[in-house]
Amino acid sequence: MEIHTYPDGDSLALAAADHFTDQAVTAISSRSRFAVALSGGSTPRTSYGLLASDSYLPKVDWRRVHLFFGDERCVPPDHPESNYRMVRETLVDHIPIPGENVHRIQGEIEPEEAADDYEKTMRSFFGSNSSFDLVLLGMGIDGHTASLFPGTGAIREHDRWVVAHHIQNLGVWRISLTPAIINGAETVTFIVSGKNKAEMAKRVLEGPLDPKDLPAQIIRPARGKLYWLLDAEAASRLERRGKICL
Ligand code: 6PG
Repeated sequence: MEIHTYPDGDSLALAAADHFTDQAVTAISSRSRFAVALSGGSTPRTSYGLLASDSYLPKVDWRRVHLFFGDERCVPPDHPESNYRMVRETLVDHIPIPGENVHRIQGEIEPEEAADDYEKTMRSFFGSNSSFDLVLLGMGIDGHTASLFPGTGAIREHDRWVVAHHIQNLGVWRISLTPAIINGAETVTFIVSGKNKAEMAKRVLEGPLDPKDLPAQIIRPARGKLYWLLDAEAASRLERRGKICL
C-alpha cells in the first residue's frame, strides 16, 4: 500500500487526474482497454473536470475506456443525488467516449433488479479471469466506501459483485460493488480530502482492524496495488506516509 499526501484539495485533484491518466495509458498499452469504476460523492468532481480539460483530455484514448460506477443512489439518472449525473456533467459530456462504454447503474428501477442487471453487465464484460484496471473510491466520515456502510452484510459479501441494500442510518437504498470485485482489481485508489476525514483516515489506516465498523479497511486488493491519496488536512493525524507494507 502507498500513502501519498498533497498540500491541498487542488493539488490532490491534480495528482488524482495524473494517476488516472497514468493508469489508463498503462492499461490501454498492455490490454487495449481501460476499465475503471468511478467513485461518487463530491471529492472526485474536480479531478473528473480536470480529465475533461484541454490539458488532460488528449492524454487518454477515450475510445478504449469503459466507465463503470462503484456505487449508485437509487434515484433517476437526472436526480441531483445521482452519481451518474455528477460524472456525466463533469466528465462524460465533455469527452469522446462511445456511449456504449459508459455503464450506468440503473438507479431508477427496483434496486435488486438494478444490482442483478449490473452484475450481469460486469460478468459479461470481464468474463471469469479479468477485473477492473482501476477502482476509484472515496471514504465517508463513518469509514464507509462505495456504498459499503458500517454494520451492513455487504461488507462480508464475497461471491456477488453487486448488491442492493437498505442503509438504515440514511433511510435510503443504495447499490454497491462488493469487496469481491473491488479487491480483484489491478489498482484500487482512495481519494480523501478535508479535515473532517482526518480522524477516520487515522482509524482506518493506523488503527486496529475492524472492517465491520470500518468498511474501508476491507479494501485490500488480492494481487493488485492499493493507493491512498490524501490532502494534508485529511492526512493530518497520520503517523505513516509513503510505501507501507501491509
Ligand atoms: C457516494 C460515494 C461514497 C463517497 C464517500 C465520500 O456515492 O457518495 O460512493 O462512498 O465516496 O461518501 O464522499 P465525499 O467525497 O462527498 O466526501
